[in-house]
Order: sequence, then C-alpha cells, then structure tokens
Amino acid sequence: MKITVSRKAHFNAAHRLHNPEWSDEKNREVFGKCNNPNFHGHNYQLIVSVRGEVDPETGYVVDMKLLKDLIKEHVEDAFDHKNLNLDTAEFAKLNPTAENIASVIWTKLRAHIDGSLDLKITLYETERNFVELEG
Ligand code: NI
Repeated sequence: MKITVSRKAHFNAAHRLHNPEWSDEKNREVFGKCNNPNFHGHNYQLIVSVRGEVDPETGYVVDMKLLKDLIKEHVEDAFDHKNLNLDTAEFAKLNPTAENIASVIWTKLRAHIDGSLDLKITLYETERNFVELEG
C-alpha cells in the first residue's frame, strides 16, 4: 500500500515574465501584468508530496525532517526574498512562470529523494492559481 506524505512551505519572490525574442508589445499582450518591467512579487505556497511504501523499520515513507531540510536548502534559501530573474542562476534565462518554477524545484529535490519514492510538486502562485507536477 502506498501512502503520500506532504510538507508545505512558502517563499516570497519577485519575477518578470518576458520573452526576449518577442517585441515589447507582444510581451505585454501575452504576459500582461506579469511583464511589468520593474518586476512584482508573489507569495508562493509550495506543497512537496512524496509517495511510496511505508518503511517497516521506521514506519515512515520519508523522514519529514529530511524533507523539511531539503526544502529549506534547495527552495527557501535559494528563492525566498529573491528576484528570480536577477538573483538566481536557474531563471537567468528561463522564464520564471509557475510551471518553470515547479519544474526547477522538482528537479532540485528529485536528486535528493530515494528513487523508489514518487515526487509531486504543487505550487500556488496566487490563492487561485496553482500548478502540479508529478514526475
Ligand atoms: Ni507574476
């Protein structure tokens, strides 16, 4: 029987959605307010879910302390209170949409979580807008 365990976290970050291949007009058309040249912030809410069999020795699917520490090191310390476009290597050339942020977080965490476990990332950019990524 597989069980899903999840941990919530949050970070505040600024971004600008922009495709340098396009004209300013097309960028404004496609990305709207998120194309604002001087950036804007979001309170990102993150849910990291790990699914797998319970380890009979520990009774855990995954140690929550490990999950907490991984999220702190690879997400909060990397992105909290940052300008994603200017302050992070990940989004220097990658458009920091919720989709791409979730994908970057998934890749970062996947490297540190046992391969027998499934990893799902849910990222809320606003209370109403969220993306889910299951690898
Ligand atoms: Ni935005």
